[in-house]
Order: sequence, then C-alpha cells, then structure tokens
Amino acid sequence: MISYPKGKIKVLLLENIHKDAYELFKKDGFDVTLEKDALDEDDLAKRIGEIHILGIRSKTNVTPKVLANARRLLSIGCFCIGTNQVDLEGAEKIAVPVFNAPYSNTRSVAELVIAEIIMLARKATDQSRDVHLGKWNKIAKGCFEVRGKTLGIVGYGHIGSQVSVLAESMGMKVIFFDVIAKLPLGNASPVATYEELLQQSDFITFHVPETEETENLFNKAHLAHIKPNSYLLNLSRGKVVNIEALAEGLKSGRIAGAGIDVYPEEPKSNDDPFKSPLQGLNNVILTPHVGGSTEEAQKNIGTEVAQKLLKFINNGSTTFSVNFPNIELGNLKPGFHRILNIHKNQPGFLRDINSIISEMGGNILSQHLSTSTNIGYLSMEIDRNLGDELKNKIKAHQHSIRTRILYLD
Ligand code: NAI
Repeated sequence: MISYPKGKIKVLLLENIHKDAYELFKKDGFDVTLEKDALDEDDLAKRIGEIHILGIRSKTNVTPKVLANARRLLSIGCFCIGTNQVDLEGAEKIAVPVFNAPYSNTRSVAELVIAEIIMLARKATDQSRDVHLGKWNKIAKGCFEVRGKTLGIVGYGHIGSQVSVLAESMGMKVIFFDVIAKLPLGNASPVATYEELLQQSDFITFHVPETEETENLFNKAHLAHIKPNSYLLNLSRGKVVNIEALAEGLKSGRIAGAGIDVYPEEPKSNDDPFKSPLQGLNNVILTPHVGGSTEEAQKNIGTEVAQKLLKFINNGSTTFSVNFPNIELGNLKPGFHRILNIHKNQPGFLRDINSIISEMGGNILSQHLSTSTNIGYLSMEIDRNLGDELKNKIKAHQHSIRTRILYLD
C-alpha cells in the first residue's frame, strides 16, 4: 500500500510566485507548473478541475464559480498576507484548507520604521531633495539624535515588538500600548492608556490591524494630547490615522514630521494616480505601501507557504490554516498508516467511524479531531493495514466530504 503518488499531484503556481516555492515542490516529487500571470475567473474555472494544489498571490480570485469545478483540489496557498481573494468559507465546505504567510515581511516593515525615525529626526529627505535641486542648506537647528528619545508603539504584536528591539538597540526608550497584555521585550514598558502613550512619546508609531476600533485611532482630538514637536509614523493600515488631522498637525507645527506608507484610499495599480493632503508638506516621508515589500520577504513568503502546503499533503497538518480546523501532526511511524477525513460537523460521526474500525478488527493508536461550525477534521493512526476497504467505508458515510490515507513510503 502506498500514498497517492506525488508525481500525479498537480501543483499550479500562478502570479510569478518565488522560484524557491517551485523548487520545494519539484524536489519533493510533485508535478509542478509555475506561471507568470494571474488567471481570470473563467480561465481558472476551466483549469482548476485538474489541479490538486493551487498557489496564488493577490490578483487571482478563487470564487464560488471556481470552487464549483475544483473536484480534485486539496489545498490553496496564498503566497501573500491577505486571503480575502479566496472564498474561504466555500473552500472549507469542500474540504480545502487555505494557507498564507502572515509574518514573512514583519522584519521588512520594522526596518523601514527604524530608518524613517532617523530620517525624520534629521529632516534628511527634505535635505536630500534640496541638494538634488542645487540648494545648500547646512543647518543643525531642528535636527536631533534619536538616542535617549521616547518611542511610543501602538500595537505590540509581531511588527511592534520587532520595532521595539531595534529601537532599544539605538538607545531609544520604548513604551507601548496594546489592548491585550503583552510580554515587554528588553527594557520596553507598557503604559496603561493610549493617551498616556501620546503624551510621553517623541515618536509615535502605529502597528495595529484594521478594525472598527482602530479606524481613526489617531484623530483631531489627539492633536491636543501629543507632545509638541513629536513625530508620527503609520506603516500599518490606511484608516488608522486620520489624514486630515495629521495634515493639520503638520501644518500647525504641532507635529514635526511624519512617515506614512498606507492611506485610506490607495491606487489599484501602479498606473493609477495618487492624491493626498500630505503631499508637498515639509518633513513628510510618503511611501507607496512598500513596508513589507522586499526581496527577502518575497523569498520568505515562497518558502513559508510552500512548506505549509507540503506539510498538509505529506502528513495532514493544518496548523496556521486560515479557514480550517487546525491539527498539528507528527511524521508517520513505520508500520502505521494515517487516515485523514473531513466531514460535515454532525453529531455521531466519530462514534460511527470508531464502530466501523472496531468491526473490522482495527486498533486506533491515536486519534485527533478538530471542528469548526461547518466541518470536522479527523486524523487517526491505525496499526493494521485495513487500507482501501476502510477508506471506502468511511467515504460512504453520509457526512464524509473527503478521505485520504497516508502510508509511510
Ligand atoms: P499583529 O496582529 O501581530 O499585531 C497587532 C497588535 O495590535 C496586536 O498585539 C493587537 O493586540 C494590537 N491591537 C489591536 N487593536 C488595538 C488597539 N485598538 N490599540 C492597541 N493595540 C491594538 O500584526 P502585525 O503583523 O504586527 O501587523 C500590524 C499591522 O501592520 C497590520 O495592520 C498589518 O496589516 C500591517 N502591515 C503592513 C505592511 C506594509 O506593507 N506597510 C506589511 C505587513 C503588515
């Protein structure tokens, strides 16, 4: 008995996904194709029927129409951060876990924040522009070292905490505010309220998700709370900082400079124009949502998502799937085989499966079940080779959606 041969598992990687992902599938023996472009809905709906693993980035939409034809699809990898281009609930219902790479570009964002803090403190981008224009304006007034200054981090998650470590290594004092209790790294210290953070910080940087609570988290009312001549950075999500309030603070001189990478409205493509009230203001660094855009991040995304997909195919683990009950499974042991079953989450399913196995004389060595509202994901290791007969009996259960058996090669 052997697992389904990898050479027959078709992997389609679209949108020029990093070649390291292609190499990982190839090395493991899969039939993998790498394509440069995205596919539109009709083309993908035509091709998806033959595909077992689909890799996409943000331009390919996996819609209900596409999923309706996805009869062989085992899993989808979003080689990016966001997953809203995929019908996640629809994928879950047809037993297709979706994986992404939420933290592959964390360090890239953190490094840009640190770079901008220094550039703002030294007014370096304005000076660079002047020199490009032939203007020589050698001054020290209004230019500062960052050593000894206070950095206030709003949102002490993956990026916020990386910024914290890097900032401390430059001699900054770090304080942070988060809505949940977080372990402070190094000598960073939490403050009790957001207002306290605004009052104490020389630099304020936002690293929160976009939620109803974080929309306009910084607004006109806060201009009165911040330290005069402080700096503000937002490389998180565009609606977190109210741009009009920030522009007002910059024009009045209350805010000494800003670094902004994300905007409430962003152009859909590089060919579309961009307008913002921040354009033309002094000591304002504007970047086009590139905080996480580095070669390293692209490479990390390629390997992180490919490894999650390979793990799911090779041992059934769904850890970090965004739409699926998570189970972390170890490697198979010699002599055992693993049955993976996805079923509708209905009462009595596990009882029925256990009866089938005991009637066949099998002994269950380990069993894991994780459920969501819609489905249950069951993994079992059995000591006897009940093989295809058992698979067929489980498949025949009215609530079964998909069943696979893995054998140690
Ligand atoms: P994360 O989920 O690890 O951390 C977010 C933190 O914010 C959490 O600790 C959470 O408890 C906290 N938080 C939530 N609501 C809050 C509130 N009202 N006040 C204070 N804290 C609050 O997220 P991560 O990976 O650190 O990302 C942070 C942001 O950066 C996200 O919005 C993400 O979309 C964005 N991002 C931007 C990139 C860019 O290219 N500019 C690239 C990558 C991420």
